[in-house]
Amino acid sequence: MKPKVLITRKILAEALDYLKEHVDYEICTADRNPTKQEIIEKIADKEGLLCLLTDTIDKEVIDSARSLKIIANCAVGYDNIDIKEAKKRGILVTNTPGVLTETTADLTWALIFAVARRIPEADRFTREKKFRGWELDLFLGKEITGKCLGIIGMGRIGKAVALRAQSFRMKIIYSDPQRLAPEEEKKYKATFVPLDELLSSADIITIHATLTPESLHLISREKIQLIQKDAILINVARGPIVDEKSLAEALERNQIWGAGLDVYEREPDVEDKLLSLENVVLLPHIGSASYETRLKMAMMAARNLIQGLRGEHPDNLVPW
Ligand code: GLV
Repeated sequence: MKPKVLITRKILAEALDYLKEHVDYEICTADRNPTKQEIIEKIADKEGLLCLLTDTIDKEVIDSARSLKIIANCAVGYDNIDIKEAKKRGILVTNTPGVLTETTADLTWALIFAVARRIPEADRFTREKKFRGWELDLFLGKEITGKCLGIIGMGRIGKAVALRAQSFRMKIIYSDPQRLAPEEEKKYKATFVPLDELLSSADIITIHATLTPESLHLISREKIQLIQKDAILINVARGPIVDEKSLAEALERNQIWGAGLDVYEREPDVEDKLLSLENVVLLPHIGSASYETRLKMAMMAARNLIQGLRGEHPDNLVPW
């Protein structure tokens, strides 16, 4: 008999076909994310769970799973899963690192340019037939080349963002709980600085940290005060790293020049104030959303799941 698995949301067909050969799956088919209660009801008899970053897999969910062996998260971040509770019960947890690094770094740059060159605003203007001809001061933005880029979180994605910055001849500074080895600092042309120094000196600040109790509201109201008036803040990591309400207030007062956000504190909700501001570009958490990458993520999660169910060591086990 094939092991029973719960898939919390429709994933790409190729990954479903692959899973079908190995497991007997139930899939939440509603055109929305399942509620925690729905997951609790369906997970009781399952040995495997393939879930998304939008699913909260906490103690209550884990408690209700009687036969669970593995939780395969289809995301690199796994702050949606209570790892300690999983560990207590010997349940494996996996994620999808590596495959989305370049795609997310690309989107970071798309957001940087969108904010710096006011692209969404200019697009709206053109569609509204307001373009009356070239003007010297139409949609003046910010220069990128030669500026200072501050990277918060110098992991895989932070490094990929740094490599791209080299073609814009930028000065790169970074802040991370763990300093890179000297060879790596050389390779990425990145200088380690304390967070406060990064915030007060970078022209563009981009966040690539993981969400942990230590990074929750790392960019607090006080830290936002340190950011230069002409600077841009980008967050493609996790919403709760930034105090979203304080950021919205700072943008409204033009205390910061602009921001680009792909993630929010209470997704899918977005702080109301942000919705009416022109100096912020808002995306619906699409950092890794290229077809190729999302397929790789789904296949990786499926492979991890099957390996765990077979009693093998999954390729992408998260550290307990
Ligand atoms: C996306 O946010 C991910 O963690 O994969």
